[in-house]
Amino acid sequence: MSKQSIGIFDSGVGGTSIWTEIHALMPYENTIYLADSKNAPYGPKGKDAIINLSIKNTEYLLSKNCKLIVVACNTATTNAIDYLRATYSVPFIGIEPAIKPAALKTKTDAIGILATKGTLTSELFSKTTNLFASNIKVVEQIGDGIVELIESGNLYSEEMKLLLKVYLEPMIKADIDYLVLGCTHYPYLIPLLLEILPKHVKIIDSGEAVARQTKTVLEKHILLNSETRYSKNEFYTNGAPEVMTQLLGKHFVVDYLDF
Ligand code: DGL
Repeated sequence: MSKQSIGIFDSGVGGTSIWTEIHALMPYENTIYLADSKNAPYGPKGKDAIINLSIKNTEYLLSKNCKLIVVACNTATTNAIDYLRATYSVPFIGIEPAIKPAALKTKTDAIGILATKGTLTSELFSKTTNLFASNIKVVEQIGDGIVELIESGNLYSEEMKLLLKVYLEPMIKADIDYLVLGCTHYPYLIPLLLEILPKHVKIIDSGEAVARQTKTVLEKHILLNSETRYSKNEFYTNGAPEVMTQLLGKHFVVDYLDF
């Protein structure tokens, strides 16, 4: 049982930022990563469309006998995880913007959140924000165009830098001291964000917390792999494999798959 893979999916290549955290914490777990790049971005799509795409990705991973599924996409988590948990019997781990830690730590009483439209308009997001950040200023920004640039291999482009400057300006004006990254594509932007943000602004994302939660749930269900020498990590995309290879590094094999 425990040798079965952890299944991970995202609308595209962004969830590899989560895979990296999972692999760092549990290097001997087998993994299968699925990038639905053909249908990216999920952010502007409606809830039903996001649920249907999440079902398609889940069923593929279940057909590969995955023991647990990580929804490595804030947009899919905030819109579809309730449905997935109610429909399938494997455990699901989701990712949500880290509003709570940012709201607890802010000293300027202002935090920024960069995420997709699908995440920022979801019920789950407004619930979390009302619960933990009702007393502070939350500057929300939809990251229109960011996922598309990353998916087309234009991560460190002038176009991206210009877009980020525009998106961060209102946050800087509002004197935020924490920026929450609410999309798994965005950790790849950190070098660019650090160039634009004032030095005292801290960036938070949920990747490490997701990896820890994945381990906790595997332990609870007695699903951890007992292997301690080797792991098999498979990467599939229905988009361009070279974009994912650029992010992961050349020693990882990424296969095209029409799913
Ligand atoms: N990585 C997805 C997320 O975390 C990107 C969403 C999109 O495809 O728009 O939300």
